[in-house]
Order: sequence, then structure tokens, then C-alpha cells
Amino acid sequence: MLNPTLNLQTAPGHQVLAAAGKRILRPGGRAATEKLFQWADFKPGETVLELAAGFGDSAIALAKRYGLYVVAIEKNPDSVARARTNVAAAGLSDRIEIIEGDIFDLDRLGKQFDYVLAEAILTMQSPSGKAKILQGVRDRLKPGGKFLSHELLAQNNESEIHQVLSQVIRVNAAPYSKSNWIAAFETAGLQVQQHQTGIMGLLTIRQMLHDEGITGTALILWNILTKPLLRQRIVQMRQVFNRYKQDLGYIIICAQRL
Ligand SMILES: C[S@@+](CC[C@H](N)C(=O)[O-])C[C@H]1O[C@@H](n2cnc3c(N)ncnc32)[C@H](O)[C@@H]1O
Repeated sequence: MLNPTLNLQTAPGHQVLAAAGKRILRPGGRAATEKLFQWADFKPGETVLELAAGFGDSAIALAKRYGLYVVAIEKNPDSVARARTNVAAAGLSDRIEIIEGDIFDLDRLGKQFDYVLAEAILTMQSPSGKAKILQGVRDRLKPGGKFLSHELLAQNNESEIHQVLSQVIRVNAAPYSKSNWIAAFETAGLQVQQHQTGIMGLLTIRQMLHDEGITGTALILWNILTKPLLRQRIVQMRQVFNRYKQDLGYIIICAQRL
């Protein structure tokens, strides 16, 4: 359902997509997240800190499928409320804690985790913001703990893509190239073990069907068709994704705290 207070002209791209009914808001979708989970090799009872958890989709998968304990931080109060409702509906309130907070204040948590998971959030930060969060991630990991990351990739034309994308999604979105992502991780003391890149599938029908199912995709398409402002914003985003499809994609990285 459309949030009546959301200004569709100015809202960040992920809120526009959520208003259209999208639940999975990461460039490589569920399949890329799944790959990260395989690399992680979780053991029941281990702990995960999730940054910018959105509606709690990944946190629920981690607790339900792998028996993990998850602390998830999310800044948007509406998303926090929705994530808590989803967690309760999944019967996982004893395994998942959703904290309303800012990922720039990770030191407030005061404990360390076996894993940190962050999807579609580092890209939205300036270079110094990325470095600060990565330092926080490193400090919140136990020695030998793993950081699981899923972000936007700009294989070439980083600065042009930064400008055009930021305009269209109304957020300072600065995807890095593969080598720049890896360098940023290693500078923070996170040794990259595995990585994989792929196409930006957020608005492709194929990825949408995989991520949102047939009913979810039908609802999203209906909302796009029937709500002109929503349509305008999503068409603009899709045009930019298509224009840069050779360079724009996702990257997933599994890195270990040294
Ligand atoms: C693109 S969405 C990704 C959500 C989720 N990780 C997913 O992959 O579906 C970005 C999320 O980051 C949250 N966010 C943005 N800045 C944040 C911050 N400083 N601290 C915590 N959450 C933040 C937003 O509210 C939004 O839910």
C-alpha cells in the first residue's frame, strides 16, 4: 500500500520501490544473497549483526534456515516497525532483535559477532562514510569473523554513474569498481576471501519474479501502471540502469577480519 505521507518526487529510490511493493531492495536480489550465505558456512547458534535490515527479510532467513541469532539495525522507523511485525509473524522474536539506530554508531553495541551482513547500504555513503562504516564493521567482528557484503558495482565510469544515479535515486549513491571495493575492505583490515559480480537486476522482470514471486511482481506492475508519479520515478531509474548496463551491476564480497 502507498504511504500517503511519502513525497514521490523527492523520496529516495529504495522508498519509491518499496512503495511500489518491492520487498527485496538489493541489486543482485535473493540469488546474490544466497551465494553469500553459502560462502559464510554458518553454524547453528552463531551470531550475526545485520546493517540496514530494511523489512527484516535477510534476518528472518538467517534465523529460520541456519538457527542463527541476529541483531539488526535499521534507521527508518516505518521499516523498523514492519521488520518487527515480520519477525513476530515468523515466530522468531527470541532469535532476532531489531534495533532502531544508525549504522554510524556501531560502537554503541559493545559486543562482537561471528558475522556482519550489509546489503545495499555502503554504496549510499561518501568515501569517508564507507571507510567509517567498514571500520565499525571490523570492530564489531570477532577475530576471524566474516563480513558479508552485497553492493552496487560501477565497473567503469564511476564518477559519471555516481552523478547520474544520485540524481535519479535522490541519494548520494556512489558505487565503486571491483578493485576500489576490495581496496576499501582491505584498508579497514577485512581480507577479501571470495567475491562475485553480476548484472544489476533490481528492475528486470526475471529478477523480480525470482525475488517477489508472481503475485508480488503482478502487484508491483499494477502499481507502476496505475500510479503516474510512481511510474515516472521507476521509469527514470530503469532508464539509467539500462543506459549503464555494461558497467552497473552488483558485487558480493565475503571478507574476514584478520
Ligand atoms: C536499499 S535499502 C536496503 C534494505 C535491505 N538491506 C535489503 O537489502 O533489502 C537501504 C536501507 O538502509 C536503511 N538506512 C539508510 N541509512 C541508514 C543508517 N545510517 N543506519 C541504519 N539504516 C540505514 C534505509 O532505511 C533502508 O532500509
